[in-house]
This record gives sequence, C-alpha cells and structure tokens, in this order.
Amino acid sequence: MHTFTTTIALQNYLQGLQGKTIGFVPTMGALHVGHLSLIERSIAETDITVASIFVNPTQFNNTADFDKYPRTIADDRTMLERAGCHILYAPETPAEVYNGYTMQTFDFAGLDSSMEGYFRPGHFQGMANVVFRLFDIVNPNKAFFGEKDYQQLALVRHMAAKHFPALEVVACDTLRESDGLAMSSRNRRLSDDERVISSNIPRILNSAKEHNITDAKQLKLWVEGEFAMVPGIRLEYFEIADGNSLQVVDKVNSDSRMFIAAYVGDVRLIDNMAAQ
Ligand code: PAJ
Repeated sequence: MHTFTTTIALQNYLQGLQGKTIGFVPTMGALHVGHLSLIERSIAETDITVASIFVNPTQFNNTADFDKYPRTIADDRTMLERAGCHILYAPETPAEVYNGYTMQTFDFAGLDSSMEGYFRPGHFQGMANVVFRLFDIVNPNKAFFGEKDYQQLALVRHMAAKHFPALEVVACDTLRESDGLAMSSRNRRLSDDERVISSNIPRILNSAKEHNITDAKQLKLWVEGEFAMVPGIRLEYFEIADGNSLQVVDKVNSDSRMFIAAYVGDVRLIDNMAAQ
C-alpha cells in the first residue's frame, strides 16, 4: 500500500494511473470491520482503492469530541494493508487538506434540517466541505459511504449530484457486532458496562420493527417508553422519517426509517434501520 501524507504527492501518483477506475473510501480512522467492508466493496468494484484518514476538525461542533476522537493510525494502516487497499491518503494537518480551498455553504434542500443536522449545528457543512475537497483531490469514479450515517449519505449524494455528476456514490450496509450494536469508532470509548447497555439500541429498534405499528406517533411513543426503562441511556432523538426525503412521516410504510441518537455515558451513538 502506498501512503501519502501530502496532497501533491498523492495527486502526482494518481496522475500516473490514467485509465484505471478509482474507488474512494473517506474515513476519520479508528478503523473497524464496518470501514473495511467499504474498502472490500471498492476493491471489488474498481481498479484502484484510495482510503483517506483525516479527523476533520470542521465537522466537530464540540472541541472536546474532536480531542477525544480515537486516533489509531498504526493499527489502521495494518488493517488497510491486510484488506488489500492500494493507497492511503493520511494528511497530518488541516492545512494540508484545505490549503487553497475556500469553504462553501451548501444548500441541502432541507435534507439537513432534522436529526443530525438539527442536533449538531454546523456538522454537515463541515462534513460536506471536507468530502467536496477530498473528491476534488482524489477525483474518484466511485465513492463508498455507509448507511450507518444515513443522513450523511443522503447529503453527500445531494452534493455530488450537483458538483460531481460523473461520480457514483455507493451506499453500503451497516455492519453490526454480534449483539446488533452498529460498529462505530466511538464504541471503543464505552466502558464494559456501557458497552452492554448500548446493545439496547439495536434491541429496541428491532423490537419496534416487529411491533408493526403503522401510526408513527404511536411508534415513537412506544420506543421512547422503552428507552425510558433502560438506565444508563439518554435518548437525544428518535424519529421516523422517509428514507429519501428524510422528512418525518405520520404513517409508517416500507420507505420509512427509524433514526436514533443516544448518549451512553458521554459517548454519543447513532443508528438507523428500516421501520418495516
Ligand atoms: P467515519 O465515521 O470514519 O466513517 C467513514 C465511513 O464508514 C462512512 O461512510 C461511514 O458511514 C462508514 N461506516 C461507519 N461505521 C460503519 C458500519 N458499522 N457499517 C458500515 N459502514 C460504516 O463518516 C465519516 O467518517 C466522516 O464524516 C467522513 C465522511 C470521512 C468525512 O470526514
């Protein structure tokens, strides 16, 4: 695997690969099997896979969260190498990424007004700017994003359709631990007790799905009631929204998804699942 810490060295190398299709997997590191599933998909669908590792300060609306974000670059490199990733772009400073770039304000046509967009002000503008910048640097044919961050995926699709029309954004399934907890870099900050408590998130979502409640308000009340009974979890939001428009729905149908953010200790976890 070739590792580049500077943008210019990466771009010089990529220029020598004319005619090959490029698959791109942007990450913030602290890699787990969920990230690797995106790498594997890219390897299967393109000639050359580029992963990036950059903990992007502009998408953290809270400096403590940025400081506490796990950084495990040596392990990440080993995992990427074993997975067969061809290129790692691992810039070491924000200046390396943003030099010469002017921050933009994206119009997401309301896709960012609820859930993560509402509870993490500025997060999606920061995320979209770094993804725009990375797309510009790497110029991939396909970019792979996880449904774990469903609203992020929807916004990236929206941004890419306008600014990178030739790029295909590929949605990848959420990988889960054996108890159902969605894999996340943040899971490693959970204590053993908190880790056990966290498994209530997929348990309650799965059970909500099985209840087949078609009235969204009733479903929401039921889920909120379930969480209220679990000590150690603080629900930030639970919403049932349309999987395309991300607008909250009244009636649950096969296009509806359940979206959740919850704190276990001081770790903020998100998840989403089809509602039917
Ligand atoms: P990060 O949280 O590192 O996630 C990188 C990619 O891995 C995202 O597309 C995310 O949805 C995907 N991913 C995370 N957990 C997953 C899981 N359990 N199953 C499948 N895919 C999973 O998302 C970001 O970084 C950043 O916002 C980024 C897009 C890199 C911009 O900074």
